[in-house]
Amino acid sequence: MEKGEKLYEGKAKILYLTENPEQLIQHFKDDATAFDGLKKGTIQGKGVVNNQISITLFNLLKKRGIKSHFEEQLSDNEMLVKRVEIMPVEVVVRLVSTGSLCKRYGIQEGLTFAKPIVELYYKNDQLHDPLMNDDHVLTLGLATAAELAQMKQQALQVSAILREFFDSIGIDLVDFKLEFGRYQGQILLADEISPDTCRFWEKGTHRKLDKDRFRQDLGDVEKTYQEMLQRIGAKAT
Ligand code: C5P
Repeated sequence: MEKGEKLYEGKAKILYLTENPEQLIQHFKDDATAFDGLKKGTIQGKGVVNNQISITLFNLLKKRGIKSHFEEQLSDNEMLVKRVEIMPVEVVVRLVSTGSLCKRYGIQEGLTFAKPIVELYYKNDQLHDPLMNDDHVLTLGLATAAELAQMKQQALQVSAILREFFDSIGIDLVDFKLEFGRYQGQILLADEISPDTCRFWEKGTHRKLDKDRFRQDLGDVEKTYQEMLQRIGAKAT
């Protein structure tokens, strides 16, 4: 696959055009940012880990009926994806309390919810991705009612599938963020699913196995990303 012009460069990924107008190359970088871009750094090998983990999880979800933009692996840190129009709404699913939820509502960390909480955020860097509800999304015209219903329903399906998978490798899925895109009249899961976009806690010890190691300077950042790749890869193969 010929790599064409750079279409977009984000904090952790680059999208390149290809000779097929319906497909892009998604390149995963080692660059890491946190706290709205205030903290910057590099996590050696992260691009490879996030590409491989995303591929494994997109494949797992596909088997369970969830379609995504993923087409095929191109290299260690690149995948071919469908060229979707990314919806400007990020969907966060929370199974256990932590992060911004605890800060916003003053609740303690580590509470497992009876049912997952689905949150919507406006994908807008300038506005710092504010939290929104369904009415905001619909009134601002960010998605149709049908699209929104589909994104929320799919997010809950993804949650159930991933929770079961991570359970089986001794890890609690704590929360995660999904992005969706429009493609030929459908809504497809897009972006990535990785330790950058999910929180994972080791069962029993509650050791953090995700980007919180970078955000909170917990050490062993690279080692933990590699460990997640191994744990997920070993189960998936
Ligand atoms: O920071 P917060 O607690 O709201 O994050 C919830 C989940 O969404 C975490 O798994 C985090 O990694 C993910 N997230 C993300 N990108 C953002 C904000 C949150 O991947 N811009």
